[in-house]
Amino acid sequence: MSRLMPKPKRNLITESNPKSPISEGYRMLRTNIEFSTVDDKLQIIMVTSSKPGEGKSTTSANLAVAFAQANKKVLLIDADLRKPSLHRIFQKSNRLGLTTALFKQKELADVIMVSDTENLFLVPAGPTPPNPSELLSSKQMHALLEAIRDAYDVVIIDTPPILSVTDAQIVATQSDGVVLVVDSGKVKKDMALKAKASLEHVNARLIGVVLNNINRKQSDSYYYYYGEREEA
Ligand SMILES: Nc1ncnc2c1ncn2[C@@H]1O[C@H](COP(=O)(O)OP(=O)(O)OP(=O)(O)O)[C@@H](O)[C@H]1O
Ligand SMILES: [Mg+2]
Repeated sequence: MSRLMPKPKRNLITESNPKSPISEGYRMLRTNIEFSTVDDKLQIIMVTSSKPGEGKSTTSANLAVAFAQANKKVLLIDADLRKPSLHRIFQKSNRLGLTTALFKQKELADVIMVSDTENLFLVPAGPTPPNPSELLSSKQMHALLEAIRDAYDVVIIDTPPILSVTDAQIVATQSDGVVLVVDSGKVKKDMALKAKASLEHVNARLIGVVLNNINRKQSDSYYYYYGEREEA
């Protein structure tokens, strides 16, 4: 019997097909982020959306691959402790992860996993805790992110939907910038504006909006625009 080829990772098109137009879209998003600030540090980037299922995890994963492909040392963290999915996208175990490190059951180094993309490392969410918001706002989380800053060029953090639970707002206060994914088929303008307001409420910096699912029937295509946060 012939050896099976490794299964391509669903949802990780930047890895499986870097030349596709969709991968090019993720590279454009990366470039827009890279150029969105000249002076300010933009190292920890959080990805969120208003509602569930808009494409946060898919965007986080592909954006992380796109940065790694540009020779940045990247750490991708699954901070959606309630509904983790990055381990599935990267075909890794979720037995150890962010929660394990925050509860100090393991050292951070022990929960960082290598990926199939050079320069890209993953921290899965780990076992779901009873108190995700508390854990994300803990001193340990702050300390962990500070330690990570010294070791990686870019940190991408996947989070739960911002209008469902406070977790994303909590992580936003610890991030340098936020990317908001909007499923144009699912989310009306007022929802997206509410999400934007929740970010502004905690003084987060919205660095870009990803319009996902513009026309899924035609091409699953993406369109991005980037915008600075409007000053009040
Ligand atoms: N542009 C796209 N084209 C086609 N399918 C997509 C696209 N973006 C996301 N999907 C699909 O939509 C589903 C939800 O995507 P994903 O898991 O990335 O969303 P999410 O916002 O992280 O969801 P959750 O709120 O459950 O964490 C997945 O099955 C994913 O494959
Ligand atoms: Mg998700």
